[in-house]
Amino acid sequence: MGSSATNWSGYVAAPIEALAAASPEYEVYVPRPNSPDLVLYRGRRVAVKPDDIGLLRSRGIERVYLMERDLPAFQRQLRDEMLAPGADVEPVQRAAAALFLARSSLQDAFASPKCEKLITASKALAEDITEHLADESLRVPELLGLVEHDYQTYTHACNVSVYSLLLARRLGIVEKVELEEIAAGGLLHDLGKRKVPAKLLNKHGPLTEEEWAVVCRHPGDGYRELVGRPDISWGMLMMVYQHHERADGSGYPAAILSDEIHPWARICAVADVFDALTSERPYRRPLPIREVCRTLRKQSESWFDPDIVDCLCAEMEEAPCV
Ligand SMILES: [Fe+2]
Ligand SMILES: [Fe+2]
Repeated sequence: MGSSATNWSGYVAAPIEALAAASPEYEVYVPRPNSPDLVLYRGRRVAVKPDDIGLLRSRGIERVYLMERDLPAFQRQLRDEMLAPGADVEPVQRAAAALFLARSSLQDAFASPKCEKLITASKALAEDITEHLADESLRVPELLGLVEHDYQTYTHACNVSVYSLLLARRLGIVEKVELEEIAAGGLLHDLGKRKVPAKLLNKHGPLTEEEWAVVCRHPGDGYRELVGRPDISWGMLMMVYQHHERADGSGYPAAILSDEIHPWARICAVADVFDALTSERPYRRPLPIREVCRTLRKQSESWFDPDIVDCLCAEMEEAPCV
């Protein structure tokens, strides 16, 4: 599973699957073995060949690094060559390119003090994500190698969006409009966390009762930001408001029971916890998939929808790398 535990300042990580560009206008770096440094892998205009991906993977490398100043050239190439209609690329490469672009746009949108920018960006990104990731042949374990696991706000939003989308697809939702709304709901589900101080979100130790009360306000705050907007459907709103509700009534903010939780919010709840457990946190490493699935299955007796947990974990446990 990819991790961005090591961050090189001035560089941006990209999954190796996003590297199908023939003749890059940017330099590509990889981590030097047994060293904290990056080393140049391909200079400008030196072609990256299809074999390179396999070679890098055989060396245990899942991420390549680009200089921040080269980011616009990389993004342009992803858009123009990998995501162009009719481009001859594998679904996993298309997904990698779409995810990389979505994450960059979302990072900009989250950095904006205006909530409106984030809402507008999320709607547009959800269409892109749905177009390039709702592909039947894309497997969740493949996706796991493409997403970042650093639990930054925009990374988490992006991951919850794609996990929710793939789960919805597996659970039989096929309408494009609904899938786009679910992807957008995933991107926006923690909108209310913009009001929670970062020191609380990143706190190492347990939260005090007062601090916990502040964190627990985020579903309601997100709901209030979005309610009444004609471009936000009821299902999207419920993903924002109910993603911390639990089937036995032990969740928040309203402590409702399973029947009252919107099906999309149930999907979002599983995607949310799955991303939290598979991500690097200040106080722990990402948990192994097997352990994550064991935890989710155990909790599905009282907290989650067992069909949704089963849908996610059955596919994960089939994967050879688990
Ligand atoms: Fe949340
Ligand atoms: Fe979340």
